[in-house]
Amino acid sequence: MYFADSNVNKYMTKHKRIGILTSGGDCSGLNAAIRAVVHCAVGTYGWEVLGIRQATLGLMVNPPLFIKLEIDQVDPPNGYLLTSGGTMLGTTNKGDPFAFPMPDGRLCDRSSDIAAGYRELGLDALIGIGGDGSLAILRRLAQQGKMNLVGIPKTIDNDIGITEHAIGFDTAVDIATEALDRLHFTAASHSRVMILEVMGRDAGHIAIAAGIAGGADVILIPEIPYTVNHICHKIKERQEQGKNFCLIIVSESVRTEEGELLTITNTLGQSRYGGIGQYLADRICDSIDVETRVTVLGHIQRGGTASPLDRLVASAFGVEAVHLIAQEKYDRMVTWQNREVVSVPIAEAIAQYRTVNPNGTLVKTARGLNIYLGD
Ligand code: F6P
Repeated sequence: MYFADSNVNKYMTKHKRIGILTSGGDCSGLNAAIRAVVHCAVGTYGWEVLGIRQATLGLMVNPPLFIKLEIDQVDPPNGYLLTSGGTMLGTTNKGDPFAFPMPDGRLCDRSSDIAAGYRELGLDALIGIGGDGSLAILRRLAQQGKMNLVGIPKTIDNDIGITEHAIGFDTAVDIATEALDRLHFTAASHSRVMILEVMGRDAGHIAIAAGIAGGADVILIPEIPYTVNHICHKIKERQEQGKNFCLIIVSESVRTEEGELLTITNTLGQSRYGGIGQYLADRICDSIDVETRVTVLGHIQRGGTASPLDRLVASAFGVEAVHLIAQEKYDRMVTWQNREVVSVPIAEAIAQYRTVNPNGTLVKTARGLNIYLGD
């Protein structure tokens, strides 16, 4: 055990056993957060940390699925978790415990099984790393099952209220920016319009950030309406300036001109956003004589080495979450505000879905760069 922080000693009253789980879609930086929690809880406070497998599914089953996490596991001699993508604990974005799909097709309320798993493991507190949907479910479970919950925000979509950063966003923006950098040269070589469709759910944070950083000529986000006519005008304007190509980045939940939200449905009937890139390509080709190509970046945005900023945010969030538990401050989510990590009630954070501010700095920047953004 080591004591790196002089404020820590005053909280060193009682041994604790805490659980940690990752819930919802994965992203880069989750392992860095797990590592930070283990370092602070085990190394600084001398507590036990149990890693719960597969989000709440690991607590739902009896016996619960978990691994005891030690510092050697998160920083083994031959490598460490700080940089790695994915989540060493596994995750799921399916199976709401309040309406859990049973093998016979019925939906069953399994919430009490999760509280039972928490008690079975003798947990004093649980750290839940998730997006707004997961945090809302975890909070409801915690309230109902009397579990002590602390939340850590993660999502490449960066759409959780109150926090400026959520784990995973920065890496996703890096990846989308690199994709634009690569598309740039092939677009110019072939005189093509290149359309990059990116994730983001109902917010355009990834598209606008990567679009500006990657030099896009057109950025389409769900927060701002557009017309195909204006996009074509931008392409022609560039041609008149001797620029034979155009880079377009579009967020997955941008609607068609007719207002339709495009989705892809698999054979199990599960659907997700997808298809707006191809829709735009077809509409542009119908209107003007240009060649278009579409790249759907997809889950590449969620994979791979975490960016330095995501490692930093994840580490700071993990440490602060453990300090909150030491102070027995529960039902709170760690957040990044004004260059500091603080905490807010989870209820406040999830009540405010954060979209791109149409009057904010990034929109003004894009407009100042003469990028077509819609309207
Ligand atoms: O919320 C994260 C996210 O990656 C969204 O950007 C995207 O719409 C969705 O998850 C994809 O989910 P799935 O992992 O189910 O394909």
